[in-house]
Amino acid sequence: MAETNANTAAGVSAAETKEIPVLSVQDLHTSFFTDNGEVKAVNGISFDLYKGKVLGVVGESGSGKSVTAYSIMQILAETGRVVEGKILYKGQDLLKYSKRQMEAFRGDKCSIIFQDPMTSLNPVFTIGYQLNEALKLHTKYKTNKEASARSIELLKMVGVNEPERRMKQYPHEFSGGMRQRVMIAMALACEPDILIADEPTTALDVTIQAQILELMKDLQKQLGMAIILVTHDLGVIASMCDEIIVMYGGSVCERGTADDIFYRPAHEYTKGLLRSIPNINNMKEKLVPISGSPINLLNIPRGCAFCTRCENAMKICLEEKPQEELIGDGHYASCWMNVRKKLEAEGAFEKTASSTSQKREEAAE
Ligand SMILES: Nc1ncnc2c1ncn2[C@@H]1O[C@H](COP(=O)(O)OP(=O)(O)OP(=O)(O)O)[C@@H](O)[C@H]1O
Ligand code: SF4
Ligand SMILES: [Mg+2]
Repeated sequence: MAETNANTAAGVSAAETKEIPVLSVQDLHTSFFTDNGEVKAVNGISFDLYKGKVLGVVGESGSGKSVTAYSIMQILAETGRVVEGKILYKGQDLLKYSKRQMEAFRGDKCSIIFQDPMTSLNPVFTIGYQLNEALKLHTKYKTNKEASARSIELLKMVGVNEPERRMKQYPHEFSGGMRQRVMIAMALACEPDILIADEPTTALDVTIQAQILELMKDLQKQLGMAIILVTHDLGVIASMCDEIIVMYGGSVCERGTADDIFYRPAHEYTKGLLRSIPNINNMKEKLVPISGSPINLLNIPRGCAFCTRCENAMKICLEEKPQEELIGDGHYASCWMNVRKKLEAEGAFEKTASSTSQKREEAAE
């Protein structure tokens, strides 16, 4: 019934651009094997990321954004494992890489910036030492002199004043915003093809957030990297992204441009998300949080993952997973409501819905 799915969607854009994506995530499933059972944190995510583009990944806490990022980097907790799918870097499957190849990928090709820079900076070494060591390990700057000169350049690039003096300081002598700038410098040290920024500004105040995002945008233009920008705050990143994927319960429920997501949302979860954050369309309205709790990842619903919280859930939503439907050029959503609208227009919805549930009842008997 679906006009397309993520793989064909990816195929269309690849055909249009005739370009191999720098990263292609295909039907990714990642689980954690805990004492309570299998926590299905990521359930069949697909997306393509092209050189020089910014992909926004948005969704509420626990929707699987970081697990997706960590699956790509293969830095999952010990109990976590990619159980299905492919992660292709320039066409090569990262899941088939050896440990050594993966270390090289993490060091040279792909960098990650975490939400809290203190988790990545070592408090007992100076900023200069840490930057120099990263450079000596992963780049052509092999001597202390070369590495220091490059570190100073990088600190300047990310807007750290008096970099020569700052090199001799320890992380605790930097403010939160400055530490995040250092992390960006560190992430850029190896001139990666891909930069994954996992909530890079959440811990910072609004003005600093804007400065850091602006900085990332500038550097992205200068260096031509592809960026995955992970956030739970759609409003913050929208202006930076070429494409946004909206995640719910470990799956992508909608994908499109920022305009598609803001002005033409086609999934009930995205609509709820937009009602819960201030934006240009609801400035005079009261913000409404999405009621209910996130799904239990130990027991994923058979139908739509959002059905227990959706005001417009229909019988079919409880029974069958909605497939990704084409809404408009490059805009896709997985919501039965779109199928219903199409079928209603053809006068066929009631017939299809009842025949689907009848088939299920027959199968259950
Ligand atoms: N080490 C782990 N063991 C068991 N389950 C885990 C583990 N790490 C993550 N999960 C599960 O995966 C789900 C998704 O986690 P993830 O960190 O990707 O969420 P997120 O979308 O990044 O949320 P946030 O916005 O809070 O960072 C969590 O709700 C949790 O149930
Ligand atoms: S598929 Fe059904 S339950 Fe899911 S978001 Fe759409 S209308 Fe709501
Ligand atoms: Mg996270």
